[in-house]
Amino acid sequence: MFTLILPTYNEKENLKEFLPKLEVLFNSKNTLYEIIIVDDDSPDHTWQWAQEYSLKNSRIRVIRRITEKGLSSAVVTGMASSKGNTIGVMDADMQHDESILPKMIDLLKENDLVIGSRRTFDGSYGEMNWYRRILSYGATILAKLILPINTNDPMSGFFVLRRNIFEDSKDRINPRGYKILLELLAINPKMKIAEVGYSFRRREYGETKLSGSVMQQYIIALIDLRLGRILSWTFIKYGVTGCLGVFINLFGQFIFNQYFSNTHQRNIKENMLLPSTAVAFGFELSVISNFFLNNFWTFKDRSKKDFKNGLTALLKFNSISLIGFIIQYSCWFFLLQVFLEYFPIFFSEFSTYIANLIGILIATVTNYKLNNSYTWSEK
Ligand code: GDD
Ligand code: MN
Repeated sequence: MFTLILPTYNEKENLKEFLPKLEVLFNSKNTLYEIIIVDDDSPDHTWQWAQEYSLKNSRIRVIRRITEKGLSSAVVTGMASSKGNTIGVMDADMQHDESILPKMIDLLKENDLVIGSRRTFDGSYGEMNWYRRILSYGATILAKLILPINTNDPMSGFFVLRRNIFEDSKDRINPRGYKILLELLAINPKMKIAEVGYSFRRREYGETKLSGSVMQQYIIALIDLRLGRILSWTFIKYGVTGCLGVFINLFGQFIFNQYFSNTHQRNIKENMLLPSTAVAFGFELSVISNFFLNNFWTFKDRSKKDFKNGLTALLKFNSISLIGFIIQYSCWFFLLQVFLEYFPIFFSEFSTYIANLIGILIATVTNYKLNNSYTWSEK
């Protein structure tokens, strides 16, 4: 069965023409179908009209959403309650050309997803005004720059897909704004995709819901999709905290060395105790400052506020940092030996800082993993 999802907001007049057209189309092709209208409690009572209409055709269902709002989330709601093994999404305002639907569904035999595209040789933006065209072009170029996307019209609100693609992605879709297709493309970079051209039609009734805030949400979504592929926001914050910690760490080492200024490079070979203590001092200083930043910023949503939990977390953080420190120290010590042994001419006091820095970077990654799942575990 094929499920067609029609998200609507004030589309009563359009549906009156569109639903009969779709029924004729599907019947003429003998398509086993269901149509799900997902309406966000439209002021023009689209939902009410559609509910009455659906009494005549049991293949049409209406979902009226009261609390939730938004195009993408309406589409996800529709998909979640669909029964088809293939699912389609289309605007309800007749700007998309339904006559290419049979071809799109057919192409799902060899593809995971098929896009109704305005940007193929036989597709076009139709009478869309220059302002909207530039926006659409711009958004497409931006998406292609930021995400690994090969399709021509990732902005399309017209596409069909295999059910399993939705099932595999549903937990990862962030249903914000307009760009449900973009989310699907970003989540499933290996999908087999085809495009079918059509010309975008003019809107006869009602008006577009695309607004400035939709545009803004779009940019945020793009950046988020990109970063989410490599890093989480938590890790970025942890990284920023860590960077600050690196400076505090090196600063601590420096202060300590200054204070006991007999640590001159000539002594390093004979006496490792003082320079080692300097490294340890810098380390502990950064552990404490990082703990507070992480507790009240990085892991703010899981922060330990009362004294007892805070102290336990500090101890956990400290012991994990100690593991990190052993890694850091081993790297530092090892690199220093390598320097003294093989590059004695280049050796300077500066080398001890470089060696320490490399150690710190390696320890940061292991520490993050441990702190994320242990100190500030989500339970
Ligand atoms: N349920 C629900 N909730 N439906 C909505 C909402 C909402 O918040 N906002 C819009 N819709 C419905 C509209 O009723 C329409 O059926 C469809 O989603 C598309 O909305 P339009 O407001 O007509 O979008 P557009 O024509 O300006 O935008 C076109 O171009 C975009 C990119 O260039 C559409 O083709 C989009 O799908 C496309 O992404
Ligand atoms: Mn439209």
